[in-house]
Amino acid sequence: MRVETLFLRNFRNYHYLELDLDPNLNIFVGANAQGKTNLLESLFFVATGRSFRTKSEEELVLWGKESCAAGARILHNRQSEKLYVTYQLEQRKKQYFSNGLEVKKSAFSGRLHVVLFTPEDLTVVKGSPQTRRKYLDEIICRISPLYAYSLSRYQHILRQRNQLLKTYREKIIASAELASWNIQLAREGAKLIAKRQFVLHRLGLLARLSHRKLTGREESLAVNYQTNIAKEILPKTDMIEQALLQALRENEKKECRVGQTLIGPHRDDINFTLNNKNARLYASQGQQRTLILALKMAEIELIKSECGEFPILLLDDVFSELDERRRHFVIENIEGKVQTLITGTTAEGMNAFKKAGKIFMVQRGEVKYIDPHR
Ligand SMILES: Nc1ncnc2c1ncn2[C@@H]1O[C@H](COP(=O)(O)OP(=O)(O)OP(=O)(O)O)[C@@H](O)[C@H]1O
Ligand SMILES: [Mg+2]
Repeated sequence: MRVETLFLRNFRNYHYLELDLDPNLNIFVGANAQGKTNLLESLFFVATGRSFRTKSEEELVLWGKESCAAGARILHNRQSEKLYVTYQLEQRKKQYFSNGLEVKKSAFSGRLHVVLFTPEDLTVVKGSPQTRRKYLDEIICRISPLYAYSLSRYQHILRQRNQLLKTYREKIIASAELASWNIQLAREGAKLIAKRQFVLHRLGLLARLSHRKLTGREESLAVNYQTNIAKEILPKTDMIEQALLQALRENEKKECRVGQTLIGPHRDDINFTLNNKNARLYASQGQQRTLILALKMAEIELIKSECGEFPILLLDDVFSELDERRRHFVIENIEGKVQTLITGTTAEGMNAFKKAGKIFMVQRGEVKYIDPHR
């Protein structure tokens, strides 16, 4: 999959931009606060319909303007398609277009795939369980649109059940109403756990391979889904549903006392171990960086196997932080097959790429191509 041209109108600090990208490598250099991350954000916006930096879309509109648009002409399965997302400030309205025709979000997302790597990703290893669940959920949503639906169904049921627990406390133990919420929660929750275990298992194996190469076989990474519901690896969905239902029933008393649901996928976690030691507790900065890099490389391979094409890789401010060995590893893995956009304050280390790409200078919301022959 390739992005041929990126289009922006009143997006962040860009008034207007029409930028032809290199099919392999695109390096964006510039001082701080010039618009490098904004560019990657815009492509992420076209791919997913949302920003990775903010929930409030009004921030995306150039100050003083009414609306913004981000679009891309992409090439997938040898077909060209023009994708566009627009956002109108006053009506808070977001619209999706494919080849000039408005389409629903469900039909839009999944056409362009990106894998994003930013310095914030480092929090996946040491951050809260919620950060890790969110990380995994986002990956699954991208390869399986039905999962997003299950996820919001589950969250809705969970809110209702918690409301009930809070309002009625002990009075509702063994009531028909709670029993009905238990059944619904177990059904939807089991789908989430099964899918997460399945995807994480595959992602974990791919990451383990990358990680082994990255560390010269010195460290061994294991990635596991952590849940109180099912102990065995990759259990069937109906088995998880039964176990979850039973656990909900057994915990009713306790949950009524605290007024919230204590078991289920919203309490699960991902466990990373390096040489059998818990990475959340013991990994150094460098080890965390290597772990995340291995996960990102795994994400690329996972998307390729699920969607048939390599995604676009967006590296925001992370390349210059890598040492020689890791840079070479990244380059070997992506060169010639994964179109990549890299940002940084200098082009340092980028010449390690063998195949020539394009270098752009970003300054105050304008992008200039730097011709190497001049
Ligand atoms: N809606 C908006 N309208 C106009 N300008 C905006 C808007 N949102 C952000 N900006 C400006 O965009 C600039 C930040 O751009 P960006 O985050 O892309 O910087 P950067 O080049 O990645 O910098 P750094 O190297 O520090 O990461 C800031 O100067 C900010 O004020
Ligand atoms: Mg930036």
